[in-house]
Amino acid sequence: MVIGEIVFKKFNIIENATGNLISLEKGNLPFPIKRVYYIYNVKENESRGFHAHRQLEQVLICVKGSCDVLVNNGHAKKVIKLDDPSTGLYLKGLVWREMHNFSSDAVLLVLASDFYSESDYIRDYSDFLDLVTNS
Ligand code: TYD
Repeated sequence: MVIGEIVFKKFNIIENATGNLISLEKGNLPFPIKRVYYIYNVKENESRGFHAHRQLEQVLICVKGSCDVLVNNGHAKKVIKLDDPSTGLYLKGLVWREMHNFSSDAVLLVLASDFYSESDYIRDYSDFLDLVTNS
């Protein structure tokens, strides 16, 4: 198992007089996409996440509004504000993540390297720390 990797990415914007377009495809993403999901209508003061993944790779993009993503690889914690559809947060390996402070209009798009599998989740924080220590 790899130690968590956290990379802030800036996407290329295809811009013309009418507006902007961002295209994410094989070649400009770190993995082939197998699943896409999005989180929206998050109630005020509610937070999400509170888990890590064993193998899954993800890119998180706040395509509308904003939210704060707390990422923690077991050694360092960081809060990253996502408020720009031309930026994404790439997470790989053992990274505990929590999403806080969703704006009421926030739409958090997630690109994932694999299908949904509950067995890939680590939902207990002390299990996460044990895995980090033993990997
Ligand atoms: P979860 O990943 O815990 O959401 P968040 O990180 O935003 O708090 O998922 C919430 C619920 O949705 C959980 O019961 C699993 C289910 N789920 C799916 O069925 N398919 C999916 O692709 C995802 C991401 C979650």
